[in-house]
Amino acid sequence: MTTNPDDRRFWHPFSDMAAVRDELFTLARGEDVWLWDDAGERYLDATASLWYANVGHGRAEIADAVRAQLVQLDAYSTFGDTTNAPAETLAQRLAALAPVPDARVFLTTGGGDSIDTAAKLARQYWWTKGEPQRVQLLSRTNGYHGTHGFGTSIGGIEANRAGYGPLLEHTTLVPWDSLEALEQAILRVGPERIAAFFAEPVIGAGGVLPPPAGYLEGVAALCEEHGILFVVDAVICGFGRLGSWFGIERWGVEPDMITFAKGVTSGYLPLGGVVVSGAVAEPFWNEPGNFVRHGATYAGHPACCAAAHANLDVLEREGLIARGAELEGELAAVLTPLAEHPLVAGVRAGTGLLGAVELDAAALAAGVTTSAVALELRRRGVLVRPLGSAIAVSPPLTIQRPELDLIGTVARDALDAILAAAPAAAGRA
Ligand SMILES: Cc1ncc(COP(=O)(O)O)c(C=O)c1O
Repeated sequence: MTTNPDDRRFWHPFSDMAAVRDELFTLARGEDVWLWDDAGERYLDATASLWYANVGHGRAEIADAVRAQLVQLDAYSTFGDTTNAPAETLAQRLAALAPVPDARVFLTTGGGDSIDTAAKLARQYWWTKGEPQRVQLLSRTNGYHGTHGFGTSIGGIEANRAGYGPLLEHTTLVPWDSLEALEQAILRVGPERIAAFFAEPVIGAGGVLPPPAGYLEGVAALCEEHGILFVVDAVICGFGRLGSWFGIERWGVEPDMITFAKGVTSGYLPLGGVVVSGAVAEPFWNEPGNFVRHGATYAGHPACCAAAHANLDVLEREGLIARGAELEGELAAVLTPLAEHPLVAGVRAGTGLLGAVELDAAALAAGVTTSAVALELRRRGVLVRPLGSAIAVSPPLTIQRPELDLIGTVARDALDAILAAAPAAAGRA
């Protein structure tokens, strides 16, 4: 889409608007794993948009469910005793699916909203338990937990924290891959001062980093030993991305809270939430007066909940949840040969339907950028995501083998084109 830059008013998220000056890339239509721009060119959505289009695009049955709900009851607040059937039944459905004992579900409008909810719930839980000094929130380097207040403060991607002045106090980052470092941090800060530890099962935006063997089980044990609440951020990893409903099941861990969003509606409408264990919910549900003065205007929005129900129906009926694990080997097989390319340092894949191709440090130093590589892929009809020093891939769970192969061949072509234009950028011969 070409418009006069001076006429533009849409401020794009996570975007350098001074650089988004000329041509915009305008998407107009979607169907399954395919998208079309406003000129009719077709693209493979190799990232499920921002890790969320798990059932693929253009599902009329989700749109129909949303329409049916909107004409029945468009929206009404769920504060106090007021409710609606889609919100109640969605919470029941998710609670039954979650690996959390006696679960309750706090509905929100997205991932960052869920993180801030979980952080406040954790602190307030300890306050109600007579341990108000437990306010410290621990999280991991490279972790990404959204851009709201708490999420920015516990985020482990340094660039996302810069420029806002002092962030929240009483947060501590630990190296993302070390149980030993976590234990040392717990002892340094003092377990009696720690409210919760936040972790993504597989770190997504921070580079697609699967946990070292034994890490998540070890975290659960450490949290239990020291009475720290374990909050699993399943915003990316849930709803099939790792082959299970909430991603964490494959490690046999039962956290105290799970934050979710994205794949719960496959993005058809915004919705997120926090699954909370019965034990953490107990003081709020059983002691009158202990209520959480927190919640969004649109929490439990009936049309968003209807979208979630229809999306969960598709995930169940088509057996899509298991595909995140079924396809992880195939995605790894497609991406791994790229590690031989002179511009590539290595490939991370094999835990769920997500992967990353890390560019070689010498290529990056010579001026090759992940944005340039992603643009070369886009020119060839495949949409991937530049992510720090890597290119990320996380297609819809409906993707088939020929389309997976296409990601691999187009990525190679794109890297070859970059190398041909700048042969000195080659990291290795
Ligand atoms: C792990 C994780 N947590 C939280 C968020 C924030 O979600 P939202 O963008 O819906 O606020 C994201 C977004 O990508 C995420 O990847």
